[in-house]
Amino acid sequence: MTVPEEQLLVTGRIRSRVNKQWYPYTMRVLKESDLPSVLELYDFVVENIEDSDMLWRYANETVVDFLGQDGIVAGVFVDRTLVGFRVMYFHHEGDPNNPLLCNRSSYGKTAHLALCVVHPEFRGNSLQKHMGVHLLRVAQASRPFPTMCSIVSPHNYPSISDKFSLNMVVVKLMPKFRRIWRYIFYRDMDTPITAVDKKLIFAASYDYPRQIELLEQGYYGVQLGTSSGETGLFFRKLR
Ligand SMILES: CC(C)(COP(=O)(O)OP(=O)(O)OC[C@H]1O[C@@H](n2cnc3c(N)ncnc32)[C@H](O)[C@@H]1OP(=O)(O)O)[C@@H](O)C(=O)NCCC(=O)NCCS
Repeated sequence: MTVPEEQLLVTGRIRSRVNKQWYPYTMRVLKESDLPSVLELYDFVVENIEDSDMLWRYANETVVDFLGQDGIVAGVFVDRTLVGFRVMYFHHEGDPNNPLLCNRSSYGKTAHLALCVVHPEFRGNSLQKHMGVHLLRVAQASRPFPTMCSIVSPHNYPSISDKFSLNMVVVKLMPKFRRIWRYIFYRDMDTPITAVDKKLIFAASYDYPRQIELLEQGYYGVQLGTSSGETGLFFRKLR
């Protein structure tokens, strides 16, 4: 398949978890005509996910908006098959998915890392992170944005690791999407974060009260890790 130059993001090789073989892949910006492949992969992953609280199924109309003017979607193909995609979109007025921190003045200026799906056969290749890096690059070039946010399950460790690798921090833990708990990740693109002091405080993933207490005291979630055999976040005061 020849991909037009303006859509091509990168090529590379990824390993199948099924037969352990390496396959060449192409990453490109998706178009509205890719909708059937996007929905097919999305539905397959939603139907096969172990914990349905992890992944929100946006309405098909919203997925169409993602592929249109409101968003930029990166997709990874092995041969002609879509095996992963990642969505960034810009909030607009009346957006039901608008996180609380995105106020009226930031409509159209806050990039939301909204959705990422990788086929189970090709997980473990850090495709979410690779797509994120290229998505950010093309998005900043085409429509510079001052802030970026994302809503992530406190138990989706690959997604949490991905957000920290993009220099985002946890600013809130709150019930979203029909009262399912979510972290709100945030990044000011122009202001690098600096630590006020070196102290890191750990709170386990399931300990919501402790995490909320730390966030309310001015700490931010900055790192995924373990302590005494428990997975959780390390919190730190930032400037
Ligand atoms: C989330 C998803 C896209 C990630 O796929 P992926 O890019 O293949 O992720 P990987 O398995 O390669 O893991 C990515 C990173 O998370 C880390 N990670 C994975 N599981 C982890 C765990 N239990 N604890 C800590 N870190 C973990 C990996 O070590 C890896 O880190 P590295 O890149 O520094 O090596 C994929 O699992 C998926 O499609 N899940 C279903 C849909 C979903 O939940 N999407 C996210 C919400 S929109």
